[in-house]
Amino acid sequence: MIAQASVNQIFQTAQIDEVVGEFVSLKKRGVNLVANCPFHDEKTPSFYVSPAKGIYKCFGCGAGGNPVNFIMEHEKVSFPDALRFLAEKYNIDIDETEDSEEYKAAQTERESLLVITNYTQRYFADILLNNEEGKAIGLSYFKERGIGDDLIEKFHLGYSLESWDGFTKTAVENAYNLELLEKTGLTIRKEAKTYDRFRGRVMFPIHDVSGRCIGFGGRILKKSEKAAKYVNSPESEIYHKGNVLYGIHLAKKSIVKNDNCYLVEGYTDVIAVHKAGIENVVASSGTSLTEGQIKLVKRFTKNITILYDGDEAGIKASLRGINLVLDEGLNVKIVPLPEGEDPDSYSSTLGSEQFVNYLNHKAEDFIRFKTLLFKKEASNDPHKLSEAISDIVESIAHVQDPITRSIYIKDTSTLLGISEEVLLKKLNFFIRNKKKRTETQQLPASQAEEVKIIDPAQSSNTSEHVQERYIVKLLLNYGNEDIRIKTHLNDEDDDTYITMNLAKYIINEITNNSIEFENQTYSQIYNEFVNSDSTLDQSYFSQHHDPKVSKLTADLLSTRYEISKNWKEKYDIFVPNENDNLGENVISVLNLLKFAKVKKMIKQVKDRLENVSSPEEYNPLLEVQNELITWKKQLSESMRAVVIK
Ligand code: CTP
Ligand code: MN
Repeated sequence: MIAQASVNQIFQTAQIDEVVGEFVSLKKRGVNLVANCPFHDEKTPSFYVSPAKGIYKCFGCGAGGNPVNFIMEHEKVSFPDALRFLAEKYNIDIDETEDSEEYKAAQTERESLLVITNYTQRYFADILLNNEEGKAIGLSYFKERGIGDDLIEKFHLGYSLESWDGFTKTAVENAYNLELLEKTGLTIRKEAKTYDRFRGRVMFPIHDVSGRCIGFGGRILKKSEKAAKYVNSPESEIYHKGNVLYGIHLAKKSIVKNDNCYLVEGYTDVIAVHKAGIENVVASSGTSLTEGQIKLVKRFTKNITILYDGDEAGIKASLRGINLVLDEGLNVKIVPLPEGEDPDSYSSTLGSEQFVNYLNHKAEDFIRFKTLLFKKEASNDPHKLSEAISDIVESIAHVQDPITRSIYIKDTSTLLGISEEVLLKKLNFFIRNKKKRTETQQLPASQAEEVKIIDPAQSSNTSEHVQERYIVKLLLNYGNEDIRIKTHLNDEDDDTYITMNLAKYIINEITNNSIEFENQTYSQIYNEFVNSDSTLDQSYFSQHHDPKVSKLTADLLSTRYEISKNWKEKYDIFVPNENDNLGENVISVLNLLKFAKVKKMIKQVKDRLENVSSPEEYNPLLEVQNELITWKKQLSESMRAVVIK
């Protein structure tokens, strides 16, 4: 258990923009920050961060909450683990007592697997640095390749012993569960025997965006061996190869800063590029990029620069995969390396300074690169040239921005000496084909859902929960403000206003009419207002320890008005600036709530009237019903008055 004082300190220290900014690239917009939402797929940003309110909110998929909610949702960890994560980020010493049985049981399997992989990372590193075999074989190998202590530490490099089950034995002795060890892929079980997956290899731990170890790559050192050069962790609950980029946790800050991400092929390439002083580099680990990996890059930048080995056949094969990157709207550059060189070898040939220079000067736009490469290849063969043109124009069709597309067509036309018309015709053919394929994809349903939650005072929806929601929204946003309420004490013409605290007014009205909230979370927040002398502020609720409350608060605190222009255009809805006529909004929503309530009561009475057996019962009920009907009529009249005004 983490002590309450520590929890409070973490909540007070964690800044929403800093926490979210570690995972996505935020851009300033007014008083808020925006980004493409990391929780769903989108092309235009609807993910907002409000530093003033300490919350994030996505208007596309509905995700939202405080910094702890963000870590929980993004890193898929429990509440205590999210707190520990933030404590580490902000160097807060947490006061933690022995875990309760309940907490232990609540841990997910995912978290247990992560505990194991992170233990294993330390285990392999310890072997590399302190074990005789580790030092003699692993450490000297790294030294020989020019990988010094700083890089060994930075990448948590390690070594696995030449032994069948050295690791598994030690792990089990240290009370790690064998079944879970198997699930991480670190231990293999064949019939009754268990043994280590990684044996006699230098180890490259693979990390997720936040730097937790999720898997390993192990490189064999002896050349003669029949075994594969690299052995990698298998897919598991925590390791999905297609969504992982080697080095992303070390690169993300630098990617945002440089607004570019270098992509290389292997573990050692990433390390070599770091050695040259460049940190915005990741590796796809031997395969062509997957959609998940591209999306990961896209969270931090729209620019990707691919470093290619100089072997032309290899380049041509992998160029095709780049269309997928263009589909995501990323700009792609290529840095070709001389034949037979990879970033690792070439950076050590050139030395850091010259290597950096090379990268800066040789980066070439992908389409241009492809055009020139194919031109050289096919210039004497009309059939080949025609194929090449088709291939190039197909890539241009994958470029998302139409202006950029037309520039490429012009460029390609000049470079190849083919008329623009011919190229455009081909381009349109590819675009049409692509459209057909993607048209079946639809807007996520959650977007439509969000549109419905407009100001209930403007809507005909009389469901009580909608009004409860809106009342809680008013309490949270304007609870401490004063509103002007028109009184009915005087004649209609003679406008008399009283000024009153909004929370007080709402609470009075609801209490006087004996209305009870039906939705549990709305009711919880409302009652806290009732019991608190109405001095509660927003941060109390946005930092509420019940995640239902804090997430709902984030939802209700996000200023709909600021995004209204965007949504208005898109969905043609009216979003009022509720601040302008707060008093009227309060009255409308209370009326609607009463209206819904009275309708419900009328129905109840009606049901009872149908089942009574004696006149003694019948008459009083009838009276109640009449009263209710009168009340309902009054309400609808006053509502109309407000709406018409
Ligand atoms: N790879 C792999 N499995 C293999 C071969 C390669 O997973 N059997 C992946 C690794 O991520 C590797 C990358 O592909 O880092 C590139 O392969 P390669 O160039 O052969 O390896 P390097 O990392 O460059 O290793 P080294 O320089 O030590 O030969
Ligand atoms: Mn290499």
